[in-house]
Amino acid sequence: MSQQVRPYLEYQADRVEAVLAAHRAPGRVTGGTVGPRLIRLFLNPAPATRFATIKRLADDLALAMRVPALTVDRDPNGVVLSFPNPRPKLVDLFPLLAEVDHVPAATALLGLTDGGVPLLARLSAPDVAHVLIAGTTGSGKSVLLRAIAASLVLCNSPSALRLLCIDPKGRTFQPLAAAPHLARPLIANSQEAVEALHSLLRTLQIRDRRGELPGEGTPRVIVLIDELADLLMAGGAPVAETLTRLAQRGREAGIHLVAATQHPSAAILGGVMRANFPLRLVGRVASAQDAQVASGRGSTDAHLLHGRGDFLALPGGDAPIRFQVANSREKDLRARVGELAAQRPPQRAMLALPMSRQ
Ligand SMILES: Nc1ncnc2c1ncn2[C@@H]1O[C@H](COP(=O)(O)OP(=O)(O)OP(=O)(O)O)[C@@H](O)[C@H]1O
Ligand SMILES: [Mg+2]
Repeated sequence: MSQQVRPYLEYQADRVEAVLAAHRAPGRVTGGTVGPRLIRLFLNPAPATRFATIKRLADDLALAMRVPALTVDRDPNGVVLSFPNPRPKLVDLFPLLAEVDHVPAATALLGLTDGGVPLLARLSAPDVAHVLIAGTTGSGKSVLLRAIAASLVLCNSPSALRLLCIDPKGRTFQPLAAAPHLARPLIANSQEAVEALHSLLRTLQIRDRRGELPGEGTPRVIVLIDELADLLMAGGAPVAETLTRLAQRGREAGIHLVAATQHPSAAILGGVMRANFPLRLVGRVASAQDAQVASGRGSTDAHLLHGRGDFLALPGGDAPIRFQVANSREKDLRARVGELAAQRPPQRAMLALPMSRQ
């Protein structure tokens, strides 16, 4: 915890205890966490203090603490008070990667949770497998896709993991253009994307037939798609069908989809494809209704997120995890990938997959 944060937390803890004492609902603040966007204080209420009383005092607490909003939640250890960090911390990808001692295979680093710990997504796990990223313009979807791609490239060898990067705007994955992990050069054109996805479906069928599991000689293939709705619009029903089959059957064959879109409605994605993304990552959306569409579940408050990398991870069935997406300067990422490429020239011609250009 930085030197400046401690007095601020102590000041807030004193305020909380004073307000509670004034309302005859005493309690003690026992600790807290400082997340990139949220600060949490842990409160241990006196035995006679009722939770409902503390909850009713949320507005008075916020007023006394001079914070714009405050939520009161129960926790196995007591009560948690959460309020916005007045100095939101953006998160840098490289120091965060360095902090995670050992990133397991085929695991992407997403960012830093509001509890202050790095958030990882292991693509090989059944409850991750395929990832759908949703959020309005400026929420940080492309930055998140780039963090996923970058962490996979920096922590896996090209013989274990390949990337297929599709982005109609041609910008998102640009800093990774030299990565030796690319199954094909970056794809911006929808015709090429359609062809690459068909070829990947053939790979899936071959792996299925031979009973090949991902491992040495059978790299996992991660398909990263920015602007999924554009691709579906350009490619029509055949692309939707191919993606649906990849989402339904890909995991066991080591093929994973990570796709971003502003509007993840069933009308755009198709119900079956939509249902086959076990992990949703949702950034700021425009309305409570959009939050429901994006997250595929009831009230998540995604419309109250702040944008610019403020995200919720929604692992199927589990409680949402709020996190700040790790960002990196494009120039720095390009340099890191350049160093990698210099050690290992691209080996596309040696790929044992029918994915290289025919
Ligand atoms: N994690 C982050 N950390 C710092 N800044 C961020 C982060 N994510 C996004 N931003 C800022 O917000 C801008 C928009 O982010 P990004 O391009 O990823 O949004 P998007 O959701 O892809 O939007 P669009 O739908 O228009 O493509 C970035 O250029 C950057 O300035
Ligand atoms: Mg974008």
